[in-house]
Amino acid sequence: MGPAGNARRDLTAHEDRPASLYTHLMRMALVLCLLAPGAPSLASDGGFSATVGAFLDSAPRFRAKEPIRTGLPAEIAATLKEDGGYLDFPGVEGAPIWGDDVRLAGLAPTDEEMEQVLADDHGIRLPPGRRIKRFKPGTPREFWDYPVGTRLLHRFLLRTAPPTLTEIRLIEKQPSGRWAYGVYLPQKNGRLRLMKAQEAVTLKVAWRGKKVALTMNRLNPESCRMCHQMHTPVNDYPEEDTAGPCGFGPGNKKLGAWAKDFQAKKGYSPFAN
Ligand code: HEC
Repeated sequence: MGPAGNARRDLTAHEDRPASLYTHLMRMALVLCLLAPGAPSLASDGGFSATVGAFLDSAPRFRAKEPIRTGLPAEIAATLKEDGGYLDFPGVEGAPIWGDDVRLAGLAPTDEEMEQVLADDHGIRLPPGRRIKRFKPGTPREFWDYPVGTRLLHRFLLRTAPPTLTEIRLIEKQPSGRWAYGVYLPQKNGRLRLMKAQEAVTLKVAWRGKKVALTMNRLNPESCRMCHQMHTPVNDYPEEDTAGPCGFGPGNKKLGAWAKDFQAKKGYSPFAN
């Protein structure tokens, strides 16, 4: 099953989660406030409304027309994950997102076949000394607020020896509260450049004892945020502009090991509460 199938599964899971009348009202209030010029922030009384209040504080600064990559560097080092203070975290299961129109040796591959030629991993970097705030911890509406400057990345590597990096997807929380999204591609100088318009790529890979072509469209650089809001299995974003991590949040039950690793390496807990 391809990415669309996974997305459908995630969406179904998302819709199964009960949304209270209170939450619906908060969402309506959010939309109304976003429409109002110079929208005042709601008084915080803890929990979900505090989260919404945080979004409202930053809402007037959104500029919907700018590309969602705005705020990210034009180039990054190929060793960003290893050298940049990122810690590995386990992704969510059943969510390989390869890109569109994938062909392996001329045929549309299954997820299992793609996994024979392409691997992925993840990393997160919190700004030094900063922590994640949890709202409504332990409830079905648990929601995490990440500090400004938080970065997460998703790397794709061909299964060669050693592995060949072919793409880094990066998201970073901006001072306005919105997340910037970018796809980075290898270039001749050994660094990775930020993709501006959707590109296709053909790679030579060893598969079933032969060298074959792997062709795929990279994801559309403007498709990220909507997908992360709609299909996120881990965080319930009230609206698209503030949608952030998709696999890193309260719904990812494997992050306990990450938190221990963080504590051991950085000397403090990644969670404020
Ligand atoms: C089809 C829906 C979809 C689209 C489109 C999409 N993503 Fe994702 N993204 C996901 C899912 C699902 C995960 C979690 C996958 C995992 O854990 O391996 C994810 C994970 C990530 C991660 C790892 C951190 C995290 O959020 O868990 C990054 C970084 C990321 N995506 C960036 C991007 C960028 C940049 C784009 C736009 C080019 C993009 N994504 C487009 C669904 C999508």
